[in-house]
Formats: sequence, structure tokens, C-alpha cells
Amino acid sequence: MQTYDLAPGHRISRVIKGGWQLAGGHGEINRETVIEDMIAFADAGITTFDCADIYTGVEALIGAFRAEYARVRGAEALDRIKVHTKFVPDLGKLATLSKADVAAAIETSLSRLGMEQLNLVQFHWWDYEIDRQVEVATWLADLRREGKIANIGGTNFDTAQMSRILDAGVPLVSMQVQYSLIDDRPSRSMVEAAMAAGISLLCYGSVGGGLFSERSLGAPEPQAPFENRSLIKYKLIVDEFGGWSLFQDLLEVLADIAAHHDSDIASIASRAVLERPGVAAVIVGARNRDHLERNLAIPDIALTEQDFARINAVLARANPVPGDVYTLERDRNGKHGSVMKYNLNKEGH
Ligand SMILES: NC(=O)c1ccc[n+]([C@@H]2O[C@H](COP(=O)([O-])OP(=O)(O)OC[C@H]3O[C@@H](n4cnc5c(N)ncnc54)[C@H](OP(=O)(O)O)[C@@H]3O)[C@@H](O)[C@H]2O)c1
Repeated sequence: MQTYDLAPGHRISRVIKGGWQLAGGHGEINRETVIEDMIAFADAGITTFDCADIYTGVEALIGAFRAEYARVRGAEALDRIKVHTKFVPDLGKLATLSKADVAAAIETSLSRLGMEQLNLVQFHWWDYEIDRQVEVATWLADLRREGKIANIGGTNFDTAQMSRILDAGVPLVSMQVQYSLIDDRPSRSMVEAAMAAGISLLCYGSVGGGLFSERSLGAPEPQAPFENRSLIKYKLIVDEFGGWSLFQDLLEVLADIAAHHDSDIASIASRAVLERPGVAAVIVGARNRDHLERNLAIPDIALTEQDFARINAVLARANPVPGDVYTLERDRNGKHGSVMKYNLNKEGH
């Protein structure tokens, strides 16, 4: 598995195991199997795990995996595991959040994960109108200086807000964003600003919640009710992109390219995102180890110029998803924002 140095002493796999699928709503979770799956991912080279304080139960599962991994593989092997969690204060708390609240949230993550220091905390802020995000980010920087956090990243900030946080002296190393063949919002201004500041992009949505797959190829347009919230979210992005029929054209091209590389649609879609400037890794959600072998192969798929030309010919017919990173989702009454849950710390714990 290709690796990438996100920060000094912080080497990640270029495919990251996404953890949201373990937070409920994506089928039954068997704790033992989940931990065995995580060991299989780590042994195979996918050594970086994405989670969040608001992914109910997932930090604790990763904590249990870390303990088991140390037991069966030793301390040196555990050292290679990097956990990327998030600090996502509830919308209802943003106006009153104190420095002590932030410190307490970080302690909770440390304790669930069984760590002395968090490898990476990715900061999310629901509402720019409650203009305290820069101040709160500086509190994370204080916790970093105190040794509670090794590295700070952001998630879903737009370019202007990312720049404000940087200008306040917060040493962001990464920004986690939705970036895929159907969503190129980061390419408008985020990529350039991030690269100039030495910030690496960690990208979710490259497989569109599973919409990029052979299952979707030739399938009728999915209709509500959807199997999970991921699919609602990414189907809305497909609609912005140009609709199901254009998406089918893209899937057909990807399927054909996949056939030439002994691969599959999802892997080609992820591989194409990894190629983009500024992208350090793709985060692929995994309920189990069904797609492990495929996901391991992603970085080594040697896409040709002709493959990219064929993909780009379809993308040239798409409507660019409007706005900067996460602008659409920030309208809580709009169709993209209304599918989000804004107070998960309160609801989940
Ligand atoms: N910062 C944020 O706001 C944010 C938002 C969303 C996600 N994330 C992070 O990013 C991760 C991934 O994003 P996501 O949750 O939106 O999901 P995703 O990665 O877009 O989709 C995951 C689903 O795609 C399917 N899949 C994965 N690999 C595949 C393959 N090789 N072939 C076919 N299907 C494949 C699987 O479905 P089946 O199991 O049904 O096959 C899997 O459950 C999350 O787990 C989370 O860690 C962060």
C-alpha cells in the first residue's frame, strides 16, 4: 500500500478505512467481527482509520482494536496505526462552547481510543454565522501544545474559513472534504490554497456511498426510501452533477476502464481522485472486509492518459456542483442540509 507523510511522524496509507459505516444504520454490528476486520485491514496495509466523536460507538471500537492489535502484533505494529478522529461540537452548543468543553471532548476521545495523544483531530463547525470557529480552533492548537493532540486538521471548511484559521496561527495539516468524479468543488479554490499552505486533502465520497459500483450500472434510478443516509446524500450529488442518465454514462466508461485493469468501478473512481493535485488519500467506508482486496489495489492501478481522457469527456458534459466545499450542505433548510444530523453528541451519548 502506498503511504504518505501527512506530518512529521505521521505516515498514512493512501486508502483510509472510513468508520461511519460502523456507527449504526448500515446493518448489524458484531463487535468481534469488526475488530477482526480492522486487524485484517491493518495487516494488509490500510493502517489509517477515520472516525469521529459523533460516530456513535466507533471511537470505542477502534480503541478495542488498538488494544487487541498491540496484544497480537506488538507495540511497533501499533505505532504504524494512525487514527483520524474529529471534533464536531453539536450545533446547539456552538454559541456557548467553552475552552473547558473542548478539553473535555478531547479527553473523551482519548479515553475511548485508549490513547495518550490523538494522532489527528479534524475540526468541523456547523454554522459560520456563529462566528467562533477561529477562536475554538486556537483552543485545539493550545491542546496540541499541551501534547493532547499531535496534529490538527479540518473538515468541510471552505477556502475562506480555512484561511482564517490558518491566519490565526493554527497549524492545520489536512482538510477532509467530499471530492469525487461527481463532486469537484475542492478544485475551485481549496486545492490551490491548501497546497500553498502545505495542507493535504483527505477525500470522502470517492465511491459515492456505494453508488459507484456494478450494482448501479444499468440499474433504474434509485428512489426513496434509500437503504441509508449515505445513499440519500450522494444521490443528491448525482442529481446536481447531471442526473442518473449522465451518471450511467460515467459508470459505463468506468466499467470499461475497469475491465482493462482487472478492477471494478469503485476502485477506478477512487484511483482517479487519488491522482488529483493536493490529494493525500481517499477515505472509503467499509462495513466489513468484503471490499478489502479491491481497496488495497486502488493506488497501484495504472490509469492511462486515454483512460483519463475518456473519464474527462463524460465530466465535460456535467454541471459542476455549485459553490465551494460544503456550501450546499450549509443551508440547513435546503435538500442537502436537511438530511444531516446536527446534535449527535447529545443524541448519541
Ligand atoms: N467529514 C465528513 O463530513 C464525512 C462525511 C462522510 C464520510 N466521511 C468519512 O468518509 C468515510 C467514507 O465516506 P462515506 O461514508 O460517505 O461512504 P463511501 O466511502 O462513499 O461509501 C461506502 C460504501 O461504498 C461501498 N463500497 C466500498 N468499497 C467498494 C468497492 N470497492 N466496490 C463496491 N462498493 C464499495 C460499500 O457499500 P457496501 O458495503 O454496501 O458494498 C461501502 O459501505 C466515512 O466512513 C467517514 O469515515 C466523512
